[in-house]
Amino acid sequence: GAPVEVDVSKLNPGEQITVSWRGKPVWIVRRSPEMLDQLKELDGLLRDPASEVDSQQPLGGYATNAHRSINPEYLVLVGLCTHLGCVPLFKPEAGSVGDDWVGGFFCPCHGSKFDLAGRVFQGVPAPTNLVVPPYTFVSESVMVVG
Ligand code: FES
Repeated sequence: GAPVEVDVSKLNPGEQITVSWRGKPVWIVRRSPEMLDQLKELDGLLRDPASEVDSQQPLGGYATNAHRSINPEYLVLVGLCTHLGCVPLFKPEAGSVGDDWVGGFFCPCHGSKFDLAGRVFQGVPAPTNLVVPPYTFVSESVMVVG
């Protein structure tokens, strides 16, 4: 499949858009400062906080930091659950998937939970973090996925 150019200049903090790349949904989320701050406090609840499993990484390894992205503000993920491939739901509001929910992505098929960097929480069926696809920025607000 061809690379996909995405203009993210109209995305407001806290918003998600979905584009199609190689027949897969790819999400781009513009994270607010509060969303980014929260990521630093979740390590103890996550299965692989430093994203050490290679299959989750694009070549170049830019998804191993806590925010799993090139520019902290923009999260780019393949929107398919690493359990059996359902499309998780964007649930950024705390408390929206139970009292202890801090915000992230929730898979409705079997209840897997991921934070706002796509890192999987402990105790759910999904074995690994959501996949970060290869992408680059061609300007401050335009990226190319693929
Ligand atoms: Fe997402 Fe099973 S496919 S939890």
